[in-house]
Amino acid sequence: MKISMRVNNNERELEVDGQTPLLWVLRDELNMTGTKYGCGKAQCGACTVHLNGNAVRSCVTPISAVNNSSVTTIEGIDNKTAAAVMKAWKSLDVPQCGFCQSGQVMSAVDLLTKKPNPTDEDIDAGMAGNLCRCATYVRIRQAIKNAAAELEA
Ligand code: FES
Ligand code: FES
Repeated sequence: MKISMRVNNNERELEVDGQTPLLWVLRDELNMTGTKYGCGKAQCGACTVHLNGNAVRSCVTPISAVNNSSVTTIEGIDNKTAAAVMKAWKSLDVPQCGFCQSGQVMSAVDLLTKKPNPTDEDIDAGMAGNLCRCATYVRIRQAIKNAAAELEA
């Protein structure tokens, strides 16, 4: 089917099977490899992107559901919240191997957009679907708090 979508503020038109997961389209058709493939089953969060401003698992989002929508990936996220998150991530050296981190950042930005001052419970709930084999969870929580404090200041 013919798909029209806006990816990181660029209009894209593609001819692709409607069942194709958004993740495949991003990585294989658009060569945007910042979004990672982990489990392919909505279990790990590595493939998280924003669809019309909400965090979704791109590995289980068929491209047919993206038609006429707006997608933001780690390559294109660019707002005040994302800047605060990335700064906090960097200052705390959150990434270890880095594989899960683009998904973590996309989920953290979504969380802080919806809950600017999250409690520990909010962070645990909001980030629960993002797994990290390197177990960077403690730093992720702290980085989200630091970003929230910076955004509040
Ligand atoms: S690759 Fe999509 S949730 Fe794991
Ligand atoms: S930093 Fe290695 S999997 Fe998360």
